[in-house]
Amino acid sequence: YQGTITIPVIVNVLYSNPSENVSDAQIASQIAVLNQDFNRRNPDVTLTPSLFKGRVGDMQMNFVLAGVNRKASNQAVWQADDSMKFSALGGIDVTQPDKYLNMWVCRIEDSGYELLGYAQFPGFPPETDGVVINPRSFGTIGQLYPEYNKGRTATHEIGHWLSLQHIWGDGPCGVDDYVRDTPDSDSPNFGCPAYPTKACGGTLMTMNFMDYSDDPCMYMFSRGQVTRSRWMFSSPYGPRQSFVA
Ligand code: ARG
Ligand code: ZN
Ligand code: CA
Repeated sequence: YQGTITIPVIVNVLYSNPSENVSDAQIASQIAVLNQDFNRRNPDVTLTPSLFKGRVGDMQMNFVLAGVNRKASNQAVWQADDSMKFSALGGIDVTQPDKYLNMWVCRIEDSGYELLGYAQFPGFPPETDGVVINPRSFGTIGQLYPEYNKGRTATHEIGHWLSLQHIWGDGPCGVDDYVRDTPDSDSPNFGCPAYPTKACGGTLMTMNFMDYSDDPCMYMFSRGQVTRSRWMFSSPYGPRQSFVA
């Protein structure tokens, strides 16, 4: 598939207090971030160190808000078990996942720890397809954690929705992320890593959206990640083909 891919977005908001009922403006701020990050138009991409400048990729994906569903709930925190994706469990059912990227915005935890977000990879059941984002790391306005106030949690989770693995392949040196131009890495990087940060015999791409760096310190996808993600739409076997059909 050539050129820009349009991805209509449905936002499903589950809230137990007013600050979790993210405003239309907060939703718009998240869509705006996606349209920068997925079109190499984010201003901070200029921070890319010269070593990696030639590897910066352009996803050429355009996100369009297609609808917002809101539901008040007396459940304050949701487990990362997909219950928020089913009205029968108090959540909001998915909308046509072959045509829309579904985003659920709600507080989430896993084994007692708060999560910023989680995603479903391509090829899993349609009923649970999409990404889940914490209202405190969603968009660039509203009540946000300062380290996560640039909307990059959704950028990262949509990376997973497009089949991208974490940059360290969720394992030590030698475990692959199936992308050739992202350097081998041994573990997640947090905070704002100094450049260069070295491991596995090389310089790490800590500024990649698929690492765990703070929002202001992640600002690029690689060309290899773009190839892998776009294949999901362009291949006849691509699990996201229905978006361009
Ligand atoms: N799944 C990760 C978490 O919940 C998301 C990391 C997003 N990182 C970021 N800088 N926004 O911790
Ligand atoms: Zn992740
Ligand atoms: Ca790699």
